[in-house]
Amino acid sequence: MTQGTQAGRLSILGMGPGDPELMTVKAARILRESPVIAWFCRHDRPGHARQIAGDLLPPTATTLRFAYPFTTEIAVSDPAYLVRMAAFYDDCARQVADHLLAGTDVALLCEGDPFLFGSAMYVFDRLHERFACTIVPGITAMSGCWSAAQRPMVHGDDVLCVIPGTLDEAALTQWLEQANAAVIMKLGRNLEKVRRALRAAGREARAIYVERATQPQQRSMKLADMTGPAPYFSIILVPGREGAR
Ligand SMILES: C[S@@+](CC[C@H](N)C(=O)[O-])C[C@H]1O[C@@H](n2cnc3c(N)ncnc32)[C@H](O)[C@@H]1O
Repeated sequence: MTQGTQAGRLSILGMGPGDPELMTVKAARILRESPVIAWFCRHDRPGHARQIAGDLLPPTATTLRFAYPFTTEIAVSDPAYLVRMAAFYDDCARQVADHLLAGTDVALLCEGDPFLFGSAMYVFDRLHERFACTIVPGITAMSGCWSAAQRPMVHGDDVLCVIPGTLDEAALTQWLEQANAAVIMKLGRNLEKVRRALRAAGREARAIYVERATQPQQRSMKLADMTGPAPYFSIILVPGREGAR
């Protein structure tokens, strides 16, 4: 940072589950005002958060597109995953820091809420002690899913468990046995393993499958009626107790 220059602020913006109308007023304002805008994406895709932002992105903004080195969900315990992802996030944080040190604000877009399985957390972890940060919460994918499916989820003292589908089958089964209500995220190629765990835990009959919630291609159905592969943007809901009044 040159002498006299004040560092920029990092704003991490939750963009919601897909429908741009579900972005907060605050996220939309910061997005429109940001001179540098960053987002994560697969190397072959535009990026979900970027798509939600649409034409709110100022045409004059400098953009930073952070393409993941992997395209599938890999267990976070895999050492190769940890090493390559750490290097990737180091590089993303360095690019953001370069702009902040030059005195320029940066907005980092994130699907759903940034602090729920969001990649932006890894940039935040690397930068928050050096730079001023604002975190704008977003509507989560699971809220989008249970609203789309019109399924009340937790009543009274029900316990809700949010489970990544990347866990092994025994762990999935154990969590599903304990929880009154559950949300299973990161399905993709984990779908059949998750289905077996739901069956083993006696929860398959109540399970609802929701795909691309709040987006034009949204669909939801009983898991038992779902055939074929699950896309990345899909969730299973296991509602808690039935209709407490
Ligand atoms: C890396 S996590 C990001 C979660 C996000 N930060 C949030 O607050 O919901 C990605 C997972 O979220 C779920 N997801 C995100 N958007 C979704 C949508 N519109 N419909 C269904 N599932 C979605 C999928 O399970 C996907 O694998």
